[in-house]
Order: sequence, then structure tokens, then C-alpha cells
Amino acid sequence: MRIAIAGGTGTVGRHIVAAAQDRGHEVVVLARSTGADVITGTGLDDALAKADAVIDASNATTLSASKARAFFETATGNLLAAEQRADVGHHVALSIVGIDDIDASYYAGKLAQERAVAAGSVPYTIARAAQFHEFAGQLLASMGGPVAVMPRTLMRPVAAREVGAHLVAVAEGAPAGRATDLVGPRDEVLADLARRQLAHDGVHRRVLEVRLPGRYGAGLASGSLRGTDDRIEGRITFDEWLRSDDHRR
Ligand SMILES: NC(=O)c1ccc[n+]([C@@H]2O[C@H](COP(=O)([O-])OP(=O)(O)OC[C@H]3O[C@@H](n4cnc5c(N)ncnc54)[C@H](OP(=O)(O)O)[C@@H]3O)[C@@H](O)[C@H]2O)c1
Repeated sequence: MRIAIAGGTGTVGRHIVAAAQDRGHEVVVLARSTGADVITGTGLDDALAKADAVIDASNATTLSASKARAFFETATGNLLAAEQRADVGHHVALSIVGIDDIDASYYAGKLAQERAVAAGSVPYTIARAAQFHEFAGQLLASMGGPVAVMPRTLMRPVAAREVGAHLVAVAEGAPAGRATDLVGPRDEVLADLARRQLAHDGVHRRVLEVRLPGRYGAGLASGSLRGTDDRIEGRITFDEWLRSDDHRR
């Protein structure tokens, strides 16, 4: 198959690209750095020519609900329009497990993305994954200073490598509307992951856990991000991932 991967240079995108290549697919990467912009639409028609499927793992880093909605709605609208012109048969959107009752902050954008995909006319599968093992490091990197403040978050993180393989398997199948949720093998708490990562890396930094106010904070602390019993579980634990090349890379 020819699979176009939006966000194919990102944290999970690189793993989707590697998994698709391992499976023998022809891969096209859509990212601003490769000349394809899902927000302006630049380069999408060229990139999607003859594509059989598109996997959307593009991302904007924001905690603003309006900015997140604007990014994911615009990106989805531009991708679906280009997919229709190119007669692409399957749009796979990567979303996040357990966010239905957390229509706030960044997750408001992901729910808007899911609605836009479902309302579009390209056959689709929405594949939800839990937070990646890489997530604690993404947050640590976004904060400077000797103290890292982490929102109280109950989660069940999964290796981005396993998410990549899962998404390629979803793209190979028929459009299904929704895929089974993918979560990791163990329940974890975000602040603990950050502390374990800092200790493993030999970095002296304090991690302070705070309960965020409002619907967003309540949602993070509720355990809903861990998903329900109807889920696929990845095998790589956070501590195994810490010791792996995926973390060192
Ligand atoms: N992080 C998690 O724990 C987690 C868990 C579950 C699901 N997800 C979902 O996974 C997806 C990817 O997350 P990530 O953490 O891997 O993202 P990331 O590391 O921030 O990577 C973002 C990717 O999007 C591309 N991108 C950004 N703006 C773009 C634009 N205007 N046009 C084209 N490409 C653009 C970036 O490339 P350029 O900068 O070159 O454009 C990059 O390849 C998101 O949809 C997120 O909601 C994340």
C-alpha cells in the first residue's frame, strides 16, 4: 500500500513510518519540514497522489481549547478535502483514550477532530491510544527550572513504538469507524513517571504534583484516561522503555 503519514516526523509519527516501511509499504511523510502543511494545505495534493490510506498523527502543542480545536478541525478539513480529490479510501485518525468527558483544554481539540472525521465523507477509523511513555519527557522538556509541575494524572501509558505498529495494522484493514483502544500494560501516575525518568537519566530536578482545577483537572485525575476493559494492551512497560534505545535516541 501507499500510506501517507501526517506528522510522520513526530514522536509517534517516526514509529508509524518505521512500522509501515517494515511491513513493505510505500510511505509519504506529510510535515512542514517535508513541504506539506495540514493547516495551509500547501503540498497536500502532491503528497496524497495515489495514496491508499492516510494516517493523521499531526499535532499542535497547546493547552488552549480554542487553539486546539482550530488546529485539529482545520488540519482534518484540509486532509479530508485533499483525500477526496485523490480518492483515498481510508483516513486513520490517532486520538486519545478516555477523553469523552474531558471536553476541555487540549482534549477539546481531539474531540473536535474526531467529530470532523466522523462527519466527513472519507471512510475512516478513529484509533485511540493512551498517553505515550514519551509523554512525561515531552512535558519535562516543555518546562524549564529546577521544579517540574505535573498535573495529577492517572494513566496507562504505552510505547509510541507499539502505537505506530497498531496504526499501520489499522490502516491495512478496512475502515471501521472506531478501532479498539490501545493502552499500556500497567496503571501509572504521571508524576511518578517523571520522577523515574529523571532518576534514570541522572537529572536532579524536583517534581511537584498538583491537582488542576476544573473539568480538565478532574478528568486527568479521574482514571478515565486508563480506558475501559474493552482494550488492547501493549507489552512494553515504562521501565523497559526507559532502558531501551527508544528513550536514549
Ligand atoms: N503524546 C501523547 O502521549 C499522545 C497520546 C495519544 C495520542 N496522541 C496523539 O498523537 C498525535 C501525535 O502526537 P506527537 O506527540 O507524536 O506529536 P509531536 O511529537 O508534537 O509531532 C507533531 C508532528 O506534527 C507535524 N506538524 C505540526 N504542525 C504541522 C502542520 N501544520 N502541517 C503538517 N505537519 C505538522 C510535525 O512536523 P513539522 O513540525 O515538521 O510540521 C510533527 O511531525 C497527536 O494527534 C496526539 O493527540 C499523543
